[in-house]
Amino acid sequence: MAYLENLFGVSGKTALVTGGSSGIGRMIATALVQAGAHVMIVSRKGDRCEAVAAELNALGATGSAEGFSGDVGSQDAITALVDAVKSRTDKLDVLFNNAGVSWGAPMADFPFDAWQKVMNINVAGLFTLTRELLPLLDASASDADPARVVNIGSVMGTVPVAEGAYSYAASKAAVHHLTKILADELAARRITVNAFAPGPFPSKMTAFATGSEEGAAKVSKNVPLGRIGCADDIAAATLFLCGRGGSYISGAILPIDGGMSAQNAIHLFGNL
Ligand SMILES: NC(=O)c1ccc[n+]([C@@H]2O[C@H](COP(=O)([O-])OP(=O)(O)OC[C@H]3O[C@@H](n4cnc5c(N)ncnc54)[C@H](OP(=O)(O)O)[C@@H]3O)[C@@H](O)[C@H]2O)c1
Repeated sequence: MAYLENLFGVSGKTALVTGGSSGIGRMIATALVQAGAHVMIVSRKGDRCEAVAAELNALGATGSAEGFSGDVGSQDAITALVDAVKSRTDKLDVLFNNAGVSWGAPMADFPFDAWQKVMNINVAGLFTLTRELLPLLDASASDADPARVVNIGSVMGTVPVAEGAYSYAASKAAVHHLTKILADELAARRITVNAFAPGPFPSKMTAFATGSEEGAAKVSKNVPLGRIGCADDIAAATLFLCGRGGSYISGAILPIDGGMSAQNAIHLFGNL
């Protein structure tokens, strides 16, 4: 166990997970608490974050959680969130920029406002929160164990598919690109920056498609590995990047998508 703890454990680390009260953010927060970290869970609905933190604290894990409200949708809200974080800790080892929103409409009706809202939260919010938390990330960064920033992108940011979520897909491609830019800029400060590019996972955002067994089974047919994602898929990737063993990885866009981003419909000679 000492071997695994040395590579994947996060004991003593402090983490912030935006949007950590549901879906993929909750899976990330759970993994970090189970592996020993203290996790701050934030989203607009602070009471939900408090409730989820209480549930995680009742797991009997070595880590702990606290929840409070935090919005990444505007400069003022981010300033308030950063103040709230600074009042709780003077160093941050792990930042998960997970909060995200989507908007779906046919191309003919796709509203202008659906660009601003989605790009604000998914891209500008992610960038601005990271920028404002740099002093806390610097405070934990070292050669042996850099501070970690993990952005949540999407398979939709990797492959050209929108299914009506035009601003969302473009925002996730922007997240992937920004991840590499920040990885380059922040390496000298001993901060790694990586992204998850998940395929379909159960969450509030995808409840319309994955919220029932029947829906999940239908979505699974689109996934080469034949199922939607589950909490362990996110947990394993979280600890891989955030444990000491992940300290030499920066600029990676990690597909967690059951093979979706590697499939293609091109056959050169295979079906002659
Ligand atoms: N589920 C999937 O299949 C999938 C696939 C690829 C990528 N992703 C990405 O994974 C991330 C998590 O999404 P999810 O699928 O787990 O959906 P979710 O359950 O809807 O979670 C989104 C979270 O973001 C929070 N949030 C929304 N706007 C916010 C804001 N302005 N400030 C702070 N928090 C905010 C929400 O809480 P409040 O409403 O309380 O603010 C919620 O906790 C997103 O970035 C999403 O794009 C999801």
